[in-house]
Amino acid sequence: MTKTVLISGASRGIGLATARRFARGMDDVACIVMVARRSRHFDDAVAEVRAIAGNRQIVAVEADLSDPQAVSDVFDRLAAENIAITAIVNNAGFTKPASINETDMADFQRTMQINLYAPFRFVQEALLRSHPLEKVINIASTAGVSGRSGWMSYSTSKAAVINMSEVMREELAPYGIDVVCLSPGRCATDLRKTLAPDEDPSTIMQPEHVADVIAMMSSPAGKMLMSENLVVRL
Ligand SMILES: NC(=O)c1ccc[n+]([C@@H]2O[C@H](COP(=O)([O-])OP(=O)(O)OC[C@H]3O[C@@H](n4cnc5c(N)ncnc54)[C@H](OP(=O)(O)O)[C@@H]3O)[C@@H](O)[C@H]2O)c1
Repeated sequence: MTKTVLISGASRGIGLATARRFARGMDDVACIVMVARRSRHFDDAVAEVRAIAGNRQIVAVEADLSDPQAVSDVFDRLAAENIAITAIVNNAGFTKPASINETDMADFQRTMQINLYAPFRFVQEALLRSHPLEKVINIASTAGVSGRSGWMSYSTSKAAVINMSEVMREELAPYGIDVVCLSPGRCATDLRKTLAPDEDPSTIMQPEHVADVIAMMSSPAGKMLMSENLVVRL
């Protein structure tokens, strides 16, 4: 059976590297749905992936995942185009580091909405709308394994993604849906620059490394790895 993979946060960083990886190297992927907010860099990313995708269909869906209604709108769009999703890569992420004293509740809520509630809603909507889902890959973080000073909202949201993935894995296994949780360490992207502005990006893991692991976990070999929470680290 051919696959249709939805990737959130596909405009840059790990999400774009994953879209490129699927477009180039996965024979059984027939369609890639790229989700991000409307922007010039999203348009460029979609054009770039289309250029290497051969016969694969590349569908761009603009959505602001800080809006609780956004995921439902994404699925309305998929329904209008008769697209059935077999895999979801819940990758979009947001961070605004702040000390406990300086944490603004609106920023905390935005972080939870984008990093936790939206991934939950992607899976829930796919189930409620009877998509032929086989695989869910949730991108958490090593910051969710152990909390980091100054990263209250981000660390908390990622810890919850790890636990949410365990619930999903157990609850969906009887239906043949495989749920994987990946926790990358430091990776050279814009998000990492926000967390560690002084770091030299050439010294840390690159988005393509994480994309390779996502592709492997999406392949038949990935089914043989029992994923509790796989740490991806250079
Ligand atoms: N980089 C690291 O060191 C690291 C480590 C561990 C885990 N991670 C996780 O890896 C995932 C990918 O992050 P990245 O490092 O590749 O970061 P990135 O380069 O900053 O990309 C973040 C992606 O999320 C999307 N996004 C952010 N806010 C959004 C919103 N409101 N609505 C829709 N999409 C939104 C962005 O799309 P727009 O074009 O719409 O902004 C972008 O495509 C995240 O879940 C992150 O937490 C990263």
